[in-house]
Amino acid sequence: MLVMPDAIWPVFLLQLLAAVTVDCSREGKQDNENIQPGCKLEGMHPLLIVTYKNITISADKITLPNGARVAVRCRELGRYKLHGDSSLQCRNGAWNGKLPSCVPTTAISNYTDDVPPTILFGLPAGSAAIEPSGALAVFPGSILHLECLFARRLGNPEWTWTSNRQYLTGWAIAAAERDWKYRLSIYYAKTQDSGVYTCSTPRGLTNSIRVHVVDVHCPTIGQPAAPLSGKIEGARMGQSAMFKCPKGYRLEGAPNITCQYNGVWSAEVPRCEAILCPPVEPTNATLQLLEHNNSHGGRVVFACMWGYKLLGPQSIRCEGDGVWTNSIPTCTEITCPPPVPPKSGRIVEHERANSRKRSRGRKVGALVQFACRPGHQLTGEASIICTESGSWSHPTPICKVRCPYPGDPPHGRIAPLKFWYEPGDNIQVTCSPGYVTPLEPVKRPTCRENGVWSGPPPPCRSYKDV
Ligand SMILES: *[C@@H]1O[C@H](CO)[C@@H](O)[C@H](O)[C@H]1NC(C)=O
Ligand SMILES: *[C@@H]1O[C@H](CO)[C@@H](O)[C@H](O)[C@H]1NC(C)=O
Ligand SMILES: *[C@@H]1O[C@H](CO)[C@@H](O)[C@H](O)[C@H]1NC(C)=O
Ligand SMILES: *[C@@H]1O[C@H](CO)[C@@H](O)[C@H](O)[C@H]1NC(C)=O
Ligand SMILES: *[C@@H]1O[C@H](CO)[C@@H](O)[C@H](O)[C@H]1NC(C)=O
Repeated sequence: MLVMPDAIWPVFLLQLLAAVTVDCSREGKQDNENIQPGCKLEGMHPLLIVTYKNITISADKITLPNGARVAVRCRELGRYKLHGDSSLQCRNGAWNGKLPSCVPTTAISNYTDDVPPTILFGLPAGSAAIEPSGALAVFPGSILHLECLFARRLGNPEWTWTSNRQYLTGWAIAAAERDWKYRLSIYYAKTQDSGVYTCSTPRGLTNSIRVHVVDVHCPTIGQPAAPLSGKIEGARMGQSAMFKCPKGYRLEGAPNITCQYNGVWSAEVPRCEAILCPPVEPTNATLQLLEHNNSHGGRVVFACMWGYKLLGPQSIRCEGDGVWTNSIPTCTEITCPPPVPPKSGRIVEHERANSRKRSRGRKVGALVQFACRPGHQLTGEASIICTESGSWSHPTPICKVRCPYPGDPPHGRIAPLKFWYEPGDNIQVTCSPGYVTPLEPVKRPTCRENGVWSGPPPPCRSYKDV
């Protein structure tokens, strides 16, 4: 039976994955013998970083020409150990070396002693960058700590190196580190310190880091011009520059650039772009813009044509990364509620109200007139207007029961003299000189509850006729 210790599994899987994913094809050969076949590279395991012509291949699937040389390393330098060749060349459709894989080390395996040790690096002074080959390029004069991570209770690892200089090695001093960091320190690195540094565990498992002390500079970056601002560490390999834009600007490009192993900045100096919101255009002639400022922090103020009101915000502001705080409002026609005819009265159909759409008679400025049935007096306003607030200028008038002025009889006068008489009122007639009302007592006309006189005013007769 095949029994595999747990810790071996990840190694095994990674090797399998790498073996499956680096595939060299012979396509093209049968078509034309003169075309040199390329090699395919696809579905690389995420832990592997492949570099071709010093450029990291990020495409998932790529065919490289015959003769192409790629550098392969593991992500997280020192935390994985590369098994296989760090450099491969495509020769007649096949890669020439052992297909690489990444093996986890102690920091990943919980410090068991069946995996190679992790090597971390620290730079208390100076700077460093990683080369495509996986070598650590260190700027001259730097202080470099190489930390071999190993459980001290399992024994002492050992540092060996290829340069012919001497280095201090030993367990770290600080309490938090002394039981698991076995250190080698390079003070004020010089070219002669270049070489391979290997940490071996008591069981003979090793991991190495290649150090390349090299004086590389990137082109100097001047103080950025406003509005861009930045903090520039320097232009030595491994140094960074960090950039910022003020509020209202968007940083276009990388906020953070680093001088790489090859003297090239990892990206260009970024730019600050003023943040603008998309310009607002009224979608309807009824909508008007009183103010239009689509800069960051600016606003657009809306209004509607006379007779219309806003449905939505009166203003919107350009915020964040160039978005309006709200959507554009619309204008809707202001209308008054349907007018209510008075009890015992009616609405006098106005020529505007006669139009097909009934609500047209309820637009701002529309006039509505009322009339009362005969025998009624209109109190209140006989005509009302639809105002801009969408309400009528006055309430519907009231039609009160009243008897009209019945008219003076010939040769006589009615008293009291009024336009309207309330129910219960009565009138008497005063005749002109020489005229009299009938002698026998006649009932005075009374205004009845239905607005009709109980009778006509008594006539005035000539004195002579009586
Ligand atoms: C890649 O970078 C290394 C180190 O800077 C340099 O020596 C080499 O010439 C470069 N190769 C290419 C193809 O640019
Ligand atoms: C590592 O050890 C911790 C604590 O002993 C445990 O919780 C964790 O599961 C271990 N991880 C692995 C990958 O073995
Ligand atoms: C800038 O980049 C360096 C190196 O990649 C990184 O250590 C640092 O955290 C970054 N800083 C910011 C502000 O992103
Ligand atoms: C637009 O608004 C911004 C932010 O409030 C302000 O700084 C700018 O002066 C305004 N532009 C104009 C033309 O009013
Ligand atoms: C403009 O808006 C008004 C009121 O909302 C609407 O009646 C009219 O049809 C709209 N006109 C256009 C061209 O969209």
